Amino acid sequence: MINAPKGTKDLLPSMSHKWQAVERAAHKITALYNAKQVRTPVFENAELFLRSIGDSTDIVNKEMYIFDDKGGRKMALRPEGTAGVMRSFIENNLGESLPLKAYYIESIYRYEKPQAGRYREHHQFGAEFFGSELPVFDVELLCMARDFLREIGFNDLVLRINSIGCPKCRAEYNKALRAFLGAVGDRICDDCKRRAQTNPLRALDCKVPSCREVYKNAPKISDYLCEECRAHHRDVVDGLKMNGIEFIEDDKLVRGLDYYTRTVFEFCDGDLALIGGGRYDGLCEQLGGKHMPCVGFGCGIERLIAAADARGIEFENNAPKLFAAAQSDSARATCDRIVREARAAGISAERDLMGKSLKAQFKYADRQGFALAVTVGESELASGECVIKRMFDGATFSAKLNDLPSVCKSILSGERG
Ligand code: HAM
Repeated sequence: MINAPKGTKDLLPSMSHKWQAVERAAHKITALYNAKQVRTPVFENAELFLRSIGDSTDIVNKEMYIFDDKGGRKMALRPEGTAGVMRSFIENNLGESLPLKAYYIESIYRYEKPQAGRYREHHQFGAEFFGSELPVFDVELLCMARDFLREIGFNDLVLRINSIGCPKCRAEYNKALRAFLGAVGDRICDDCKRRAQTNPLRALDCKVPSCREVYKNAPKISDYLCEECRAHHRDVVDGLKMNGIEFIEDDKLVRGLDYYTRTVFEFCDGDLALIGGGRYDGLCEQLGGKHMPCVGFGCGIERLIAAADARGIEFENNAPKLFAAAQSDSARATCDRIVREARAAGISAERDLMGKSLKAQFKYADRQGFALAVTVGESELASGECVIKRMFDGATFSAKLNDLPSVCKSILSGERG
């Protein structure tokens, strides 16, 4: 027996309605905001991620699936969605009519220590908005994220938000942070000692509890923002208030990717982020494009569904509608026809495909959650009349075999008792 790779999860048929509901919500809400779907390859040149996410991040340092292909090129399975979408934006000259709003639903690969809410393959619904540096752009994206969460049934997730400034003000902040990290050097982990040299902001993202305790007293980025970044943040926050989005300002929120500028945010369920994102005004230029202000988010679908389950949020489950049960072999051809006609009328339908007894057919129909069942035997074949059973309450309705689709429709729509 060969098992699935550690840290991966199959999407089982019994769960698929939840995934479909999430994807439906994503397609519906993005359409309301005039966002269009993109699909990029599951693997890219590894260099793309090194240059965008940052070579001192955990994602690049510890978690990327890198391999040489048969042509000797260094490839990587995508460890996040933004870099690939940006590569596609530049390569395909998508910036002719701005703003451009793109979204994706895709698998993501990170070699993480498998635990609850952390997988080596997970899936994200993500959105990337290209073209405006105005605070209203950040607010537009956050409204879309909020509307998506509402569509699923989340009304109370906490939005944490911060500004991590632009390269200009961040340079000042990095100096102060480096000095702080130097002073507390004997109380922080080895990774953070290294981060203090290479990229001090990354230390604030450290997951080691003792480091997190020490960083409670670290200098705050909010004290170092330049006037433009401060004004941008103030306007974003005002826009959130105007749109009724509740938030907490969290000046320790820095996120785990290097491309962010100014706004960073997470929608959290307890300690776990369901949605994370922010602005990344420098990434396009960094990858060889022109100056292009952008803002985006990624939502972990596995985490979202687990959080919804924990809250008892129900996902629409389209139960199959009509089961045609054959009482004898001579009735099977008629069941076949009933099913064909029902499907042609848009009613999901099935009949026995395994030679089961009538009792076993009904057991199957019950377990599958069919709404209606019709039994066809000698007397139905002779009279052309049948009885439809409504499974949830056992109510029965008589119908002509030739008229089943329209009778089923009226029962299903509630027109009949
Ligand atoms: P991220 O915060 O690394 O951001 O991931 C986004 C979301 O994906 C997280 O909030 C979480 O729900 C989910 N997620 C991340 N890692 C895992 C994992 N190992 N297992 C399960 N779920 C996970 C990004 O990836 C950015 N590209 C988001 C973004 C888009 N920023 C701007 N545009």
